[in-house]
Amino acid sequence: MNNSNALPHPALIAIELFPQLFQDDVPYVGTMGAAWAPGRVNLIGEHTDYNDGFVLPVAVDRVAAFAGRARADLVVRLWSTHFSEHASFEVAGLPEIFEEQRVRLPGWACYSLGVITELARLNIAISGFDAVVHGDVPVGGGMSSSAAIEVATAQACMLFSRGGFTIGAEGATLQPLQVAALCQRAEHIASGVRSGILDQAASCLGRAGKAVLLDCRSLEYRYLPFDAPDISLVVIDTSVRRELAASAYNERRSQCEEAVRMLREIIIRDEPENRTAHAISALRDITQEQFARYGSQLPDILRRRAGYIIAEDARVIETAALLERGAVEQVGPLLWQAHAGLRDEYEVSCFELDTLVEIARRVPGVLGARMLGGGFGGCTVNLVRNDAVETLRQAVEEQYPLRTGLQANIDVCRAAGGPGSAWVG
Ligand code: GLA
Repeated sequence: MNNSNALPHPALIAIELFPQLFQDDVPYVGTMGAAWAPGRVNLIGEHTDYNDGFVLPVAVDRVAAFAGRARADLVVRLWSTHFSEHASFEVAGLPEIFEEQRVRLPGWACYSLGVITELARLNIAISGFDAVVHGDVPVGGGMSSSAAIEVATAQACMLFSRGGFTIGAEGATLQPLQVAALCQRAEHIASGVRSGILDQAASCLGRAGKAVLLDCRSLEYRYLPFDAPDISLVVIDTSVRRELAASAYNERRSQCEEAVRMLREIIIRDEPENRTAHAISALRDITQEQFARYGSQLPDILRRRAGYIIAEDARVIETAALLERGAVEQVGPLLWQAHAGLRDEYEVSCFELDTLVEIARRVPGVLGARMLGGGFGGCTVNLVRNDAVETLRQAVEEQYPLRTGLQANIDVCRAAGGPGSAWVG
């Protein structure tokens, strides 16, 4: 997490808006500052994070940014340009007064409140501040706009607390993955979704031109090259958002836990000599061979859920090996396979996502595509030869509205750096 003078565009906009949106004579301390954090595109490894498995995301050149000033008191006031509304809350009294503040705040502000609550739980002293929140991560679109807000909140707190704590390399108060973990907890308390660590880790670890292979159990990670000059990372937004996503997400997680419990019992019973069976605690621990042997003993729905996760973990490892060799092209077929699994076995896709993937499949030069993130709406991720991006755009613009009655938004992203902050005078 580097301080950087290269401010992303949304930070510049937020800086410009601040004086117009916070005009009163607040007792400010110090000059203006900006803090930001990126959204992410997960190349592969969907729903594997909370199964202790592997993920392979890239942070993208889309950020959530805060621009504002530290206050002399312990109040945080925010203005969201996306929702055109203010929100304010007290820092003093956190974490105890979290719930009473959460219930009266708009959803977007709860992510910031959650992060400051988790910082308070770690006894990290935070200053109050006023800030404009502006970003270009599509909100609710599967590119982790909420994680970007959370990680940017942590950055803003560090900046405005003026040396009260630091985030960064060795010797800092918090390491990047500690920030990711506290932001993940913030997501849980703010939204009630028992999400894994993928989004927050991807945002915290972003590096230009790189994907990150993260082991969600050990939290070890490795950067892999992701910068093929003739291949584009295209994100297409269905423009569908579904409320149902949160409860369906928690349901999938519970089903995975149930599948592990059952498989563990079956393996302990059938392989009394297998001494590692007792240590099985997540789908990560079930090998493909074991699943082939015992999977059929699970109820159908659990068999399909577990089958998808076990196959997806293997696809992540395969993709990582391909990236290591610079063979980005060969990742394509794995994306098609992942989509089929998410659609048919894990059942987190939807008609609009499937439609975008089908349209992409018929465009020569699209190497692979699949739904992105938690599912039930949001975006697809597509690996596309540069010279096919325009054809894909045309195909989507022609066919998607006809089939769905909706417009889709197409965006080309790049693997970009992680969070940052800067004083701006
Ligand atoms: C959401 C969650 C992540 C992850 C993905 C699916 O984005 O926040 O933790 O589980 O869904 O891969």
